Amino acid sequence: MRHVSTVRQFGLTETTRLIERAEYLRTAKRAEIQKNLAGMLVATLFYEPSTRTRLSFEAAVYRLGGQVISAENAQENSSSKKGETLADVFRIVGAYVDAIVIRHHSAAELEEAMPYAPVPVINAGAGSGEHPTQALLDVYTIWRELGRIDHLSVAVLGDLKYGRTVHSLLRMFTMMSNISLKLYYPEGLGLPGDLLSEMAQAGVRVEHAGSVEEALADADVVYQTRIQAERLEALEEVCAASDYAIQAKHLSVLPAHARILHPLPRVGEIDPAIDPDARAAYFRQAENGLYLRMALLEQVLKGELS
Ligand code: CP
Repeated sequence: MRHVSTVRQFGLTETTRLIERAEYLRTAKRAEIQKNLAGMLVATLFYEPSTRTRLSFEAAVYRLGGQVISAENAQENSSSKKGETLADVFRIVGAYVDAIVIRHHSAAELEEAMPYAPVPVINAGAGSGEHPTQALLDVYTIWRELGRIDHLSVAVLGDLKYGRTVHSLLRMFTMMSNISLKLYYPEGLGLPGDLLSEMAQAGVRVEHAGSVEEALADADVVYQTRIQAERLEALEEVCAASDYAIQAKHLSVLPAHARILHPLPRVGEIDPAIDPDARAAYFRQAENGLYLRMALLEQVLKGELS
């Protein structure tokens, strides 16, 4: 059974294949692709809130001619509320559908339950662990915007401790050549130690910036994240998100060719005054998620994921 649990499964070959397929699906006539997943049924189980991930996965299935059943707010509205284990949920739902897309609050619980699923499971965000399909669409966006996914200087701002999108993206960077990171984050919200070690082993250069301006000065990509207030522990103060975020006043130090990415939702980071700037790529990034997830679903449901 080929589940999608971590970006570690995707090497350069697999990533390039997904990007090429997403590019094709982006411009393909709807009639040409509307039977690609005909007869396939996908379940989306979301134990945490989502706008982009759930709806782009569901749109992707429908655009390819498949169908979807969904448990939104599954923590409250499914039998998990009665104490059913995730392993049992996978056994049951896996008997009804051809694949399961799940967002869950516990990366460990998800990992333990996956072997019990009789159909492929796609991790659509797991606690503060990984969000592999977000990282794939982030890399796709960098490729579309800059024409390459290597030789990059990347400023990473915000909550690097709990931000699962950052964890997955930085893991993807470990397989690319000549990546330099400049990190700027609130005290106590830096990258987990194991991820820093992975970066070092892979030859990714990591510097800690002293200000937003310093992080941005020679960036090709700015990856802005939200402070994950819902995951902060009692003793961790919620800091002013805007202190660790790109603001309109910073645009003058950002190189003209650079691109600003944000997995969204934004809540206090990225002043809307930045939106009209050509370097603001976050809405294009969210759209790219649809095509990338279409490409991934095709591979997963046709058993082509290598
Ligand atoms: N980027 C992302 O995962 O957005 P949602 O939480 O809206 O799915």
